[in-house]
Amino acid sequence: MLSNQAGDARRSSLHGNWSSRMAFILAVTGSAVGLGNIWKFPYVAGQNGGGAFVLVYLVCVVLIGMPVMMSEILIGRRGRRNPVRTMELLGREEGSTGRWRLVGGVGGLAGILILSYYSVVAGWTLAYTLKSVSGVFSGAGPEQVGAQFDSFVGDWRLVGLAHTIFMGLSIFVVARGVERGLEQAVRFMVPALLVLMLVLLGYSISTGYFAQGVVFMFTPDFERLTWGSVLAALGQAFFTLSIGMGAVMAYGAYLPEETSITGASAAVVTADTSIAILAGLAIFPLVFANGLTPADGPGLVFNTLPLAFGQMAGGVFFSTIFFVLLSFAAWTSAIGLMEPAVAWIVEHFDKTRAQATVAVGLLIWFVGFGSVLSFNVLSDFEFLAGTIYDNIDYLTSNVMLPLGGLLITIFAGWVMCRNSTSDELGTSGNLFRFWRVLARFVAPIGILLVLINAVR
Ligand code: TRP
Repeated sequence: MLSNQAGDARRSSLHGNWSSRMAFILAVTGSAVGLGNIWKFPYVAGQNGGGAFVLVYLVCVVLIGMPVMMSEILIGRRGRRNPVRTMELLGREEGSTGRWRLVGGVGGLAGILILSYYSVVAGWTLAYTLKSVSGVFSGAGPEQVGAQFDSFVGDWRLVGLAHTIFMGLSIFVVARGVERGLEQAVRFMVPALLVLMLVLLGYSISTGYFAQGVVFMFTPDFERLTWGSVLAALGQAFFTLSIGMGAVMAYGAYLPEETSITGASAAVVTADTSIAILAGLAIFPLVFANGLTPADGPGLVFNTLPLAFGQMAGGVFFSTIFFVLLSFAAWTSAIGLMEPAVAWIVEHFDKTRAQATVAVGLLIWFVGFGSVLSFNVLSDFEFLAGTIYDNIDYLTSNVMLPLGGLLITIFAGWVMCRNSTSDELGTSGNLFRFWRVLARFVAPIGILLVLINAVR
């Protein structure tokens, strides 16, 4: 066994350790399950024509997402520092260069950019919690629900206020540290979210349009699949699993040694994918039942689910619970998005966690106004991929995360020696060989193929 100086120095991390294997799985699940599953997956699938996109997305999750996630966790646990420092240390230790720290740096930046718009949409869900309580959706039709969305999102002051409140909540938790409270919240939230998705699914089945929704989601029409949609599917796989930016690496740094990385990754990927598919199955029948269009964009969930709640018995109750849970899910993801940048500032500038969190949080809050205004005042201000929001989303999901994932798998598969990785994965058997083939060949070549074809 090779000596591992970086890790040996600290068998536990500077920032504290997870109390158990379950706590780690809960934290990573909490970061993975969020707006990406319920808000983003259905709308991006809708914009990209459904079936073929969903199939490519699932293939990306299994063949690329899984090995990237395992690589991130094993790198994180071996380095036991923030992603920048970890990549630097391991780069040197494995006989390459400290410049691998750039991967961590770009990842931290991706987290900041993602949270800048993520927080805005999380603000929408906070506002929808209040709308649900007020009963405005009871018995409402598609026009009324659509008008609610347009008038809310059209008011930049309200959206800005909701974004501000959400960032305040996120700063509060991150400043307090990794463990407290988070585990309990996720332990309750994920099962509750699953149950509510099943309630919605029940309603969708009762609309009589369920079959149409299933056909849309699962019948691939490869004629309509462009390289742009394949890249969107790859980007969505990275986004929803929280990989490619060092967040899972940062969490891995707090992982006790005996935990199985493969088992933890499989659990997270399964939970995350199930919730996304359930969300799609609940939403698309509603789209067809109400004469809406699947390619409606970022408002899709907010224009469909309230229709279901408005018709169902106990709708005010279920709707309120649903948006509270979704806000919670967004909150546990926001924590993960800030973690790499915060951990870096704490270590690099020797600041307290609270100071680092406030600095990072204020920066994100400020950048977030670009997205707040993208849906109202600046909605006609378009360049490259579209509005400011569209550009930040494209740059992060479709460029930064896949490139980050590419470099992470190259690092784990080619730069780190065989022993270091099998040591962290705790096996050198078939499972290890399978991971290594995916990390060395399948994932990097797959990512490169998609990136190259999509930009040509
Ligand atoms: N996976 C989150 C979601 O689906 C979003 C996300 C992307 C994220 N990258 C992350 C969350 C990193 C935490 C850390 O909503």
